[in-house]
Amino acid sequence: MDEINDVEEVLRQLRVSEEEKRYTELENKRLQDENEKLKKELNRMKLPPLLIGSVEDIVDERRIVIRSSTGPSFLVYTSEHIPREKLTVGARVALNKATLSVISVIPEAYDPTVVASEISEKPNVTYSDIGGLEEQIKEIREMVELPLLNPEIFKRVGVDPPTGVLLVGSPGTGKTLLAKAVANNTNATFIRVVASELVRKYIGEGARLVRELFDLARKKAPSIIFIDEMDAIGSRRIDSSTSGDREVQRTLMQLLAEIDGFEPLGNIKLVAASNRPDTLDEALMRPGRFDRIIEIPLPDSKGRAQILKIHSKKMNLKDVDLKKVADITEGFSGADLKAVTVEAGMFAIREGNDFVSRKDMINAVEKIKLQKNRSAKQGNNLEMFV
Ligand SMILES: Nc1ncnc2c1ncn2[C@@H]1O[C@H](COP(=O)(O)OP(=O)(O)OP(=O)(O)O)[C@@H](O)[C@H]1O
Ligand SMILES: [Mg+2]
Repeated sequence: MDEINDVEEVLRQLRVSEEEKRYTELENKRLQDENEKLKKELNRMKLPPLLIGSVEDIVDERRIVIRSSTGPSFLVYTSEHIPREKLTVGARVALNKATLSVISVIPEAYDPTVVASEISEKPNVTYSDIGGLEEQIKEIREMVELPLLNPEIFKRVGVDPPTGVLLVGSPGTGKTLLAKAVANNTNATFIRVVASELVRKYIGEGARLVRELFDLARKKAPSIIFIDEMDAIGSRRIDSSTSGDREVQRTLMQLLAEIDGFEPLGNIKLVAASNRPDTLDEALMRPGRFDRIIEIPLPDSKGRAQILKIHSKKMNLKDVDLKKVADITEGFSGADLKAVTVEAGMFAIREGNDFVSRKDMINAVEKIKLQKNRSAKQGNNLEMFV
C-alpha cells in the first residue's frame, strides 16, 4: 500500500515541476521579448537624427534629386524598401545624415497656419449684408463663382475664365466683407490668408507656406484662395538689402511661380484685396495672374443709405431719415458708416433713452467726421516726415 502512495506522490511532484518548468520557460520567453524590444528601442535612440528634404526630381530606378531643408539639392540613392510610387516629386522624405540617402517617406503635413486658413465654418456674411456694390458683387460672382460652378459655359463660348481677381479700394470699403460673402455663398473650399502672416514667420517660411497653400487648394479643389492685405507681399520689387524685404520678395516670387506653375490652376480661383494698389508689383497684374481688377469705390449717397440701413437694422430709430444721414456723410466709407450707427447708439444710451434720435445720429456723424479729419491730418504730418 505504502509503495503505491509513494509512486503517486512522486508522480504528483513530477507534474508540479513540469508545470513549473513550463511556467519558467514562458517567463523566460517573455523576458527575452522584452529585452529584444528594449534593445531595439535603445538602438533607435542611438540613431543619428534624420534630415528632412523633399524630392525634386526622379532620375532613375534608384537615384533621385532631393532638396534638403537647409537649401542645396543633392543626387542621392534611395532604399530598396521604399515603394517607388510613394516617391513623387514634392514628397517629403527623411534622409540619412551622412549619406543623405532616403530612409523613408514622411506623410504630408501642412503647416498649422495653412491648415487653419481653410475656412470650414462659413462666415455669416451674405451678399445682403453688403450695401451698395451691386455691380461689384455681380462681377465677382461672374468671375469666381460661375467658372467653378459651370466651367462648361466658358468652354462652350471658348473663353478662359480669369485666374485671379484683385479687389482694390480705400480702407473700410468692404473688400474683406465681400470676400466673406463669397465664402459664405460657395460650396468650394475657401482658403483665406492674410499676406502679412505669410511673411511674419522665419526666413524661407513664407515661400513654403505659399507652396503648401496651393497644394492644399489643389487637393481640395474646387477652391478659392483669398489673400487679404496683398500689399504686405505684393509691393513692387525694389533693390533692397534688409533680409525682411528679401523674405517678402521670395514669398512674392513663390506666389507668382505657383500661379503660373506647370499645372494649370483650373478649378482654383484667386481673390486678393489691397487698399494700396499703387504699390503693387506690376508682375502680379499680368495676364493669367490677377488680371481682373474690381474697384471697390466709396459708397455714393444711395449706397450710404443702404449701408446705414444694414447696420441699424436692429436699432430702435425714432424720426431718423437714413437718406438724410446719407446726404451729410459724403466721403464716408462703409466702416465709417458702421461707426456712425454704433456712436449714435452710444449717445442714446448716455442720455438714458432706449431709442436713437435724429440728434444722436447727427452728433455721431459730427464725431466720426472729426475723427476722420484728425487722422487725415496725422497722415499728412507723417507724409512730411517720409
Ligand atoms: N459696403 C458695405 N456694406 C456694409 N457694411 C460695410 C460695407 N463696407 C464696409 N462695411 C463695414 O465696415 C467693416 C470693415 O469693412 P472691411 O473689413 O470689409 O473693409 P476693407 O475694405 O477690407 O478694409 P481694409 O482695406 O482696411 O482691409 C465691415 O465689417 C462692415 O461692418
Ligand atoms: Mg480688409
